Amino acid sequence: MTRQKIIAGNWKMNGSLSSIEKLISGLRSVAENFDSQVIVSPSHPYLSNVSQLLSGSSIKLAAQNASHETSGAFTGETSVSMLQDFAVDYVLVGHSERRALYGETDDVVAKKTAAILSGELTPILCIGETLEERQKGITVDVCNTQINTVVELVGVEAFKNIVIAYEPVWAIGTGLSATAEQAQEIHKAVRNNLAALNADIGNGVKILYGGSVKASNSADLFAMPDIDGALVGGASLDVDEFVGIIKSAG
Ligand code: 13P
Repeated sequence: MTRQKIIAGNWKMNGSLSSIEKLISGLRSVAENFDSQVIVSPSHPYLSNVSQLLSGSSIKLAAQNASHETSGAFTGETSVSMLQDFAVDYVLVGHSERRALYGETDDVVAKKTAAILSGELTPILCIGETLEERQKGITVDVCNTQINTVVELVGVEAFKNIVIAYEPVWAIGTGLSATAEQAQEIHKAVRNNLAALNADIGNGVKILYGGSVKASNSADLFAMPDIDGALVGGASLDVDEFVGIIKSAG
């Protein structure tokens, strides 16, 4: 099965209006020339500007977070319906920084995924093990538990509209990417776990790799049969690097 690749840039809490304008003008002309779906994910205050800057381009917009609540007394939170007002297509959910720094449990991540799906946006569900978990040899269990908690709430068929991002915590922002073989092993195990529940869903689901992806290592990762693109942090803030990654996906 051919799955269109996705190259998503997670800008995290970085950038300014002027740096974002430059980044988008550098990306716009390039993104149209390649087959991958390019996505950018700015901080919430910039969603409106970025949405306008992307108007008429094939680049899609992702938010970095959303509440599972619909409205009410939740200071500092953003609902899915608010994101819909800004032509957001995707929402990152369960990023390891949200899990580790803001206490998001598998249950919260599942509820957020359900809320994003109800708003007809596409969750990019982030999973991944810590270094300690990898050293204990429980990487596949950790990743599949993170996914299965979501499956229990929304059902396996919902994964038709969910993108998975495997981001080993030890590879994020460290410069130490998983090797293509290490990533492929986990992508395959995650796909097989879903395929055991529903073969079509397992074969169709897109699984991105994230963790120190750069233009110099992306081609090896994308050559793997179960790696369907990348969720890029630091390198997505540099036009040349990000364009290099997009080009390497073909
Ligand atoms: P880096 O590419 O900076 O390692 O970040 C990966 C990431 O967390 C993307 O969501």
